[in-house]
Amino acid sequence: MREDHRTQHLHNHQRNKLSIITTLFTRATAYVAVVLLSYAMGYLSHSSPPQPTQAPPPPPPSVFQLANLPTQLDNFRITAHCSNSPLPPHLVFPTILDRVFNGSSPYTNFPPPHLSPFLKKRRIKSSGSNGAVFEQLIKRVKPKVIVEVGTFLGSSALHMVNVTRKLGLQTQILCLDDFRGWPGFKDIKMINGDVLLLQQFMQNVVYFNATDSVLPVPFSTGSGLEKLCEWGVTADLLEIYSGHDFISAWGDINRAYRILRPGGVIFGHDYFTAADNRGIRRAVNLFAEMNNLKIQTDGHYWVIDTAFAK
Ligand SMILES: C[S@@+](CC[C@H](N)C(=O)[O-])C[C@H]1O[C@@H](n2cnc3c(N)ncnc32)[C@H](O)[C@@H]1O
Repeated sequence: MREDHRTQHLHNHQRNKLSIITTLFTRATAYVAVVLLSYAMGYLSHSSPPQPTQAPPPPPPSVFQLANLPTQLDNFRITAHCSNSPLPPHLVFPTILDRVFNGSSPYTNFPPPHLSPFLKKRRIKSSGSNGAVFEQLIKRVKPKVIVEVGTFLGSSALHMVNVTRKLGLQTQILCLDDFRGWPGFKDIKMINGDVLLLQQFMQNVVYFNATDSVLPVPFSTGSGLEKLCEWGVTADLLEIYSGHDFISAWGDINRAYRILRPGGVIFGHDYFTAADNRGIRRAVNLFAEMNNLKIQTDGHYWVIDTAFAK
């Protein structure tokens, strides 16, 4: 009997212990479950998409808006006013002779005896200055006045003379260049730091018997284009072949465009060379976008015919 009682007691004790363990285990499980659930809910709420009440971010500004910011335009200020009355083509050369050369031709008595020994009878060397695009555009535009921005020794200018002669056109070509080129010429004479680029260009024009149709305008593209605009010079065809960096190309194209006759054509070189991805091409693209103009290409040349809007 006593033995039975002890066995019963032991049994009860073990049952109580089991019940405590079970209770503890259940509580711990519940606790862990609550912790896991809270964690999962936190995670889900964190990774869920933004509430529809949040405003969407504004779209990035277009290139047009950027280019028109006052801070951008301040860097490119034009102060000179263009003439309200464009010169008729037959007055363009007399005006340049008057304004730039004190009324007399720079070819008179050229070359002077003191320079003659230093000039080559004919020295024209440059590449890419006689592409088919010249003839196509001259045929299409039949220009009375061409302005070339960037002339060097006159290779492209004299090629245009040949084309206009072949087509029987009476075309006047103004060649705007500071005739400084760049440092390091080996075969063009320099006298007291003055490289004879202008003089060799003029010698080439004389050799081609083209003094009646080609005139140099020996200034920087910036000041030269502003003056042409002020004097009322307009071009039917404008060729740009000057600075290749973005800033130069941007300034030259924008300034040149102001002297383009409405409906005329502006074109230039080196649209597709690797180096000009950040220079000429970017300037031409931005210019065309801002003015709603269409760019055509021909080899490495870019062409904008203002008769065709985009
Ligand atoms: C690549 S060359 C022109 C080539 C020429 N059209 C030919 O047929 O050989 C570039 C010319 O642009 C001129 N040039 C560059 N920047 C100029 C600037 N800011 N003002 C005036 N002339 C500039 C240089 O003096 C140089 O003669």
